[in-house]
Amino acid sequence: MDDLKLLISREQIAERVAAIGRQITADSDGPVMFIGVLKGAAVFLSDLVRHVQIAATFDFIGVASYSNQFDRNKVWDSSGEVRLTKDVDQSLRGKDVVLVEDILDTGLTLTFLKRLLLGHEPKNLRVAVLLDKPSRRKLLVEADYVGFTIADDFVVGYGMDYAEQYRHLPDIHIVPNVALT
Ligand code: IMP
Ligand code: MG
Repeated sequence: MDDLKLLISREQIAERVAAIGRQITADSDGPVMFIGVLKGAAVFLSDLVRHVQIAATFDFIGVASYSNQFDRNKVWDSSGEVRLTKDVDQSLRGKDVVLVEDILDTGLTLTFLKRLLLGHEPKNLRVAVLLDKPSRRKLLVEADYVGFTIADDFVVGYGMDYAEQYRHLPDIHIVPNVALT
């Protein structure tokens, strides 16, 4: 097991997620449709929707990147091109949509997803991300709701993985010695 370093505790996460749920409730004037990005945002979405006090539905979308993976030297390559692996099951047309993502990093994934979802002609599209790493941004894109702004580290837990490991951990940890490109 890698030596993980605690970054954000489950108590801190719970408090922020509840606050974002209350904020989304306050900012909405009708039913909201949450779209979670598989798999990293599944845990965040499931906690978040339980703090939303208006009519809501949820669905998931899947994306993969041709990069966004580790090479054999433990270097995280985020240089790439994103593709859709699972589309939404329900129509978004005319809906008030909140896209729920785990991490906003270079912005490539979110830019791709926003363009794709806007093509479905929702009434409105907002974005909620648990973590933001603004220092790594390559494309100019921002979220409407941010849980925590963090430094340029590779993190796992609360849905987020390192080679599919650690998604089940309740707290968020840094994986040391991961080089980011
Ligand atoms: P972007 O396209 O570079 O903004 O990358 C966003 C995606 O990369 C996220 O949805 C995550 O799946 C993944 N990612 C970026 N940073 C991390 C990290 O620190 N841990 C785990 N996954 C990450
Ligand atoms: Mg992701």
